Amino acid sequence: MPTALTDLCRYPIVQAPMAGGGSGPELAAAVCEAGGLGFLAAGYKTADGMYQEIKRLRALTGRPFGVNLFMPQPPLADTSAVEVYREQLAGEAAWYDTELGDINGSSDDGYEAKLAILRDDPVPLVSFTFGCPTRAVLTAFAELGTYTVVTVTTAAEAQDAQQAGADAVCVQGVEAGGHQGTHRDDPHADGTGSGLGLLALIGQVREAVRIPVIAAGGLMRGAQIAAVLAAGASMAQLGTAFLATPESGANPLHKQALTNPLYTHTELTRAFSGRPARGLVNRFLREHGPYAPAAYPAVHYLTSPVRKAAAKAGDAQGLNLWAGQGHRLAREMPAGQLVAVLAAELDAARAALGAGGAL
Ligand SMILES: Cc1cc2nc3c(=O)[nH]c(=O)nc-3n(C[C@H](O)[C@H](O)[C@H](O)COP(=O)(O)O)c2cc1C
Repeated sequence: MPTALTDLCRYPIVQAPMAGGGSGPELAAAVCEAGGLGFLAAGYKTADGMYQEIKRLRALTGRPFGVNLFMPQPPLADTSAVEVYREQLAGEAAWYDTELGDINGSSDDGYEAKLAILRDDPVPLVSFTFGCPTRAVLTAFAELGTYTVVTVTTAAEAQDAQQAGADAVCVQGVEAGGHQGTHRDDPHADGTGSGLGLLALIGQVREAVRIPVIAAGGLMRGAQIAAVLAAGASMAQLGTAFLATPESGANPLHKQALTNPLYTHTELTRAFSGRPARGLVNRFLREHGPYAPAAYPAVHYLTSPVRKAAAKAGDAQGLNLWAGQGHRLAREMPAGQLVAVLAAELDAARAALGAGGAL
């Protein structure tokens, strides 16, 4: 096992895993080669699809990288709210000339099969979101020399992760783009408020656990990375910043939207997947967010054909445009160059802090 999280790469910069096509082997390799920590997103992929990406990444770089898994979700006890949502989305299906999806897709995201591959052919780091793995799973990885990270959105979740044996936590502030990695989605909460901002959360987690912290949410510049390191994080994880790079596999409509002034802000919504996720406010989010049910991943499967049809039609108003609160600061530059620029900005910010100057 690496002696420390920060031994995995030169700079304290992690490229966030981004399921749905955002982060594939090309992006991860470019980040690793430039001195950051690249990540593959196994979510929504088959176990074999994940393994093919691991092999491709290994062909592109010999440096350490991470693989991110979605934790299995409890089966939906009552599908009536999803059936109501299906009726509410009928107009969307008609508009995009498609059908709404079958909600009975897998709710475990192939978790056991993915674990089996990662045990048979270990990778340097595995991270988990939407829950905390069992102690047995984390211990097995520790014995294989695989570093484990659990995403947390509260201090209590961080304590659970530490107790289960995770090597580190990824502390995800409410600013973050994409899904909140909350361990249990509360169906009674509307999912759109109450999350803690990153600096508030780092402070609480640092006092609750002793394992290292990776900070995520709204970070777009090196000076912001300096801020979270000063607050006690060991590394910073950036998603939206890397989404805009040419190596990211995000839909071009999505990439362009990040800095398009038409999109004035982001919101947390259940509209596309049934779990709170932060995206640019577009027509679909505005119209359906207010009543979308807490039913992940059923809603993900339900809306999937609509999102695909919207993408095919070139209509960003029907897409899940995941983005963090910092999206306006996205820079369209190669991922390796972005790592170098962020590292230089971080150095400059640290020098300014050290000299007692203003950032
Ligand atoms: C398009 C997109 C997809 C994401 N997919 C995943 C994922 O598959 N697994 C995960 O743990 N986090 C995922 N996230 C969340 C990131 O890990 C990270 O918390 C977030 O990007 C940090 O906020 P930022 O986007 O403002 O940098 C995703 C984020 C985005 C923007």
